[in-house]
Amino acid sequence: MQAQDTRYVYFRKEICPDADAVVSIRNHSLLYGTSIFEGIRGYWIEDQNAIAIFRAREHFERLLSNANIFYMHIDETVDDCLNILAELIRKNAHRGDTYIRPTLFKDGISIGPSLDKDPTSLSIFTQPLGDYIPIDKGLHVCVSNWRRNGDNAIPPRAKAGGAYMNTALAVTDARRSGFDDAIVLTEQGKVSEGSAMNLFLVRNGQLITPSNTENILEGITRATIIELARKELGLTVVERTVERTELYVADELFFCGTGAQVAGVTQVDHRPIGTGEVGVLSKKIQDLYFQVVRNQVPQYSDWCQIVQL
Ligand SMILES: Cc1ncc(COP(=O)(O)O)c(C=O)c1O
Repeated sequence: MQAQDTRYVYFRKEICPDADAVVSIRNHSLLYGTSIFEGIRGYWIEDQNAIAIFRAREHFERLLSNANIFYMHIDETVDDCLNILAELIRKNAHRGDTYIRPTLFKDGISIGPSLDKDPTSLSIFTQPLGDYIPIDKGLHVCVSNWRRNGDNAIPPRAKAGGAYMNTALAVTDARRSGFDDAIVLTEQGKVSEGSAMNLFLVRNGQLITPSNTENILEGITRATIIELARKELGLTVVERTVERTELYVADELFFCGTGAQVAGVTQVDHRPIGTGEVGVLSKKIQDLYFQVVRNQVPQYSDWCQIVQL
């Protein structure tokens, strides 16, 4: 990333130059991982000279609701966050696909991990971002031997900064072993999700995805795909416990997430999935997803916050 791509950020209740938004090396969230965050995408719409921010309201709602888990209360409301974000997008004026990272973090220098001593601040930055993982080639992934942190340890639904040490281990080891990414299991050995994305299997024409009680992040893309699959494609979608070997016998498999978007998986642990090519339904869902996020499907335009540049 070039410094000029993120000229302004939101930090301590104001929009300021990126270079001015600094925290101490004694900062609590740096030392103890005490932050929670969101990843949001804005899609560039050339002919409207605008960015369509996808489901920003739902992302900020999730952030502020997760704040309750960690006693991270802030003054900004969801509507405030949406307005701040629109202003930031306009000020940075990046004419291209954009990634948005709001974070709530413990903004103090208390020693000791207690969440009670330091105030919580909201920061938001935006930066250009293309594909986070390849979306067309068909990913080769492994089942990680790192297990996903459980709800009674560091709750995955909270999207806590510190929890991403688990993601870091899973994805780094997968890549060092030659895979594109990893799938993690729960401590009980059931399928949870990808390193930083949810997953869907296709079997006998049905979509199957691990349920919200399998230590997943309750993904907004996952919810989007469930709705689109049911309403637009007439598919049956089942949320349930998924066994590891169900991955190997699936007809199709794909990852989904704000960063990942929709990306077909064609090998798990060296076993081809289905035909070994990105599946027909996976592709159909991917195509529909990209039309929706780029505000090309009028009945879902409520999901796109349009910011004119
Ligand atoms: C661990 C994890 N699971 C799932 C997702 C997908 O969530 P969403 O669709 O809300 O971006 C993410 C996204 O960042 C993630 O980090």
